[in-house]
Amino acid sequence: MSGQAQLALPGLAAETAAEWVWSEETGEEIDVPAFVHETVMRAPVVSALAPAAGVYVDVTVGGGGHAEGILEAHPEARVIALDRDDAALAAARERLARFGDRVTFVKTPFGDVVKALAAAGLSEVDGLCADLGVSSPQLDDAARGMSFRREGPIDMRMDRSEGETALELVERVSDDDLADIIFHYGEEKRSRRIARSIKRALSEGQLVTTLDLRRAIVRAVGPVRVGGVDPATRTFQALRIAVNGELDQLETLLGALPGIIRVQGRVAILSFHSLEDRLVKRALQDRDLWEPLTKKPVVATEEEGAANPRARSAKLRAARRIAPVAGAPWAADASGMHPKARGR
Ligand SMILES: C[S@@+](CC[C@H](N)C(=O)[O-])C[C@H]1O[C@@H](n2cnc3c(N)ncnc32)[C@H](O)[C@@H]1O
Repeated sequence: MSGQAQLALPGLAAETAAEWVWSEETGEEIDVPAFVHETVMRAPVVSALAPAAGVYVDVTVGGGGHAEGILEAHPEARVIALDRDDAALAAARERLARFGDRVTFVKTPFGDVVKALAAAGLSEVDGLCADLGVSSPQLDDAARGMSFRREGPIDMRMDRSEGETALELVERVSDDDLADIIFHYGEEKRSRRIARSIKRALSEGQLVTTLDLRRAIVRAVGPVRVGGVDPATRTFQALRIAVNGELDQLETLLGALPGIIRVQGRVAILSFHSLEDRLVKRALQDRDLWEPLTKKPVVATEEEGAANPRARSAKLRAARRIAPVAGAPWAADASGMHPKARGR
């Protein structure tokens, strides 16, 4: 298959037709797009953190936009920059090189933030930001298999050095478990039908690439876009969340927050779908621990939404850590988890 041949896909608008940027025969990436990620709500995130002379952790550094905002906002702010994706870390390293040793990069899932901080000699920080989900370059690189618009392997891992791919997950789980994943993580009502169709394609040897996966979904539910959303959107989201353990990661991070944000420290979290936002809202609503800096979640301006479609689904919640009441039992233990999060 040649470099840029366009494929006709049922139900896909012409301007979003698939591009071949991955060769199925060789597994090689033919044309990897440059790492360009438009930072969502950069100014509101930075302003919620109100950077001062101190240490901030950006647990999803990605292309480095929020970290850069923090570093530019105060000359004595330092940033610990985490990401689980090597390509993201490489891009962030390049973008943030001018800040020298004010930035420390760590490859790690943010569920291990306590360990990552400990390795940097820190137990607490002055602020934390998280910009959840995937970046545009991850979606745009066909070889990562995250997009139903581009043909690539059914991979979907953010960290390609470990863990099972989405195809391996589909192969391993039962029809019922696959349907549950699609139902819970994709909030997809037609999950049973879709799971059966995906499994059928697998057993017929027809499930190799992301476009095969989309075809199996369309076979189950038809090509019609509901509410402007492609029929494959929810299932792709569900598989990606499952493969990367995204909600478990988020719950672990949220449980660690009270132990790692110093009193008066701030957190700012951008979420992109209701499953994430629900968890963030719940974690920050404890008034013994947090003073909200956003009464309602902040959304992008119309202007930003028009310029960057990804910003349209973003919700920003921010809070300040308040002083513990005398005798409160929430000193962090070795796990760095708040007792409430530990289930005590
Ligand atoms: C939306 S992008 C961040 C973009 C960044 N704020 C910017 O302005 O360029 C999300 C990043 O978080 C990373 N990520 C998502 N989940 C993660 C996790 N559990 N642990 C570490 N990194 C994660 C992804 O690899 C991706 O690079």
